[in-house]
Amino acid sequence: MKNVIVAGAQWGDEGKGKVVDILAPHFDVVARYQGGHNAGHTVRIGERKFILRLIPSGILHEECCCVIGNGVVVDPRAFNTELQELRETGIECEGRLFISSRAHLILPYHIALDRAREERLGVNSVGTTMRGIGPAYEDKAARTGVRAGDLLYPDLLREKLRANIAQKNLEIVSMKGEPFDPDSMLDDFLSEALRLKPFIRDTVSMINAAVNDGKSVLIEGAQGTMLDVDHGTYPFVTSSNSTAGGAAPGLGLAPKKITGVLGIAKAYTTRVGGGPFPTELNDEHGAYLQKRGNEYGAVTGRPRRTGWFDAMVVRYAVMLSGYDALALTKLDVLDEFDEIRISTAYRRNGEIIKDMPYGANVLAECEPVYETLPGWKVATNGTTNFDDLPSAAKDYVRRIEELCGAPAALISTGPERTETIIRENSPVSDWMK
Ligand code: IMP
Repeated sequence: MKNVIVAGAQWGDEGKGKVVDILAPHFDVVARYQGGHNAGHTVRIGERKFILRLIPSGILHEECCCVIGNGVVVDPRAFNTELQELRETGIECEGRLFISSRAHLILPYHIALDRAREERLGVNSVGTTMRGIGPAYEDKAARTGVRAGDLLYPDLLREKLRANIAQKNLEIVSMKGEPFDPDSMLDDFLSEALRLKPFIRDTVSMINAAVNDGKSVLIEGAQGTMLDVDHGTYPFVTSSNSTAGGAAPGLGLAPKKITGVLGIAKAYTTRVGGGPFPTELNDEHGAYLQKRGNEYGAVTGRPRRTGWFDAMVVRYAVMLSGYDALALTKLDVLDEFDEIRISTAYRRNGEIIKDMPYGANVLAECEPVYETLPGWKVATNGTTNFDDLPSAAKDYVRRIEELCGAPAALISTGPERTETIIRENSPVSDWMK
């Protein structure tokens, strides 16, 4: 049995797309378990750059079957657009891409509410991607959501939607927004959503049957540990469980069937949106990381905030998700620094803290405790063998492994598939057999 989760260890954008792309040919099924089209998984193959937001990155491999699990929230328009983009590059998805009948749908009123609430919060806004993700998950928990399977019963669905629209309009109007006209919203929505019908399946039974038949599943997370709704920097989080624990309910796969977890971490740290970020660099080093690392959101184009590697964050992620190994990405972005810093703990009111504070308010009062390591000042991009790295780069990786408590089994030294070090006799090399 080989069912492995790939999940983000920081605030998202760690490079999960590239890692999933490398591992996917060694798995039969690639499945997403949470989030929606707020994610942006960038995969670069030669001259071509693919940004996958909703569809699992495994779709780029013809033999892979891909699943959008029940824990994902699906915007029909975003799905259709992405499908079309893939089609235009010659990638056909029919017959190998499936949406769970239990996955909740994002409706136009979710997007309007996301926007209106963010505007109302002003300077305290979460900085969401404005894709309606939070309001869609709210409706799921409130038991008023619409699920993909409901598209197979359009009369019932229309009735349910009419009631929902009336309710949502009250809130939208209370925030000085434009109410939806029920008929035109229904027509617009259904013209997009009904196109999903050929993809809808009982993916829970499908995945379990595949696993029972000895097939392997690569489980693709979105966002990252610090955006997890329970364990992240609440309230500056997304609305799902992005830690590995979310995979079992998000796919309907029993926890004991999951055999491995790979955590993805950048060799430094980035964050998009609001909320505390202890190692953030608002200086020339931060600007350099942003430029050299091309740190602009794949979905919204927003510049990402940048900072030094925070071992508190990744150690916390290792604890929460039980990573067997780490994939350390963008090591080459650090090539030109004279010195590189790693935060090993936090200091708050003069006291050293080694456990992650419970929420954003406390984390905002924490200062990083830094350790400084020498830079290597040698180009590492394209390196494919750990032994070929300069010794200061090897020391940097080893220090991260030591501080975080997991081996760096994969190290990415550039955006291409080929610009990657896979450590021998590691969990990653085993999963690639
Ligand atoms: P939402 O998921 O759109 O509700 O946004 C909530 C928070 O998560 C905001 O700070 C977003 O910037 C952040 N976020 C959501 N998806 C991603 C992602 O894929 N990468 C990085 N940040 C994300």
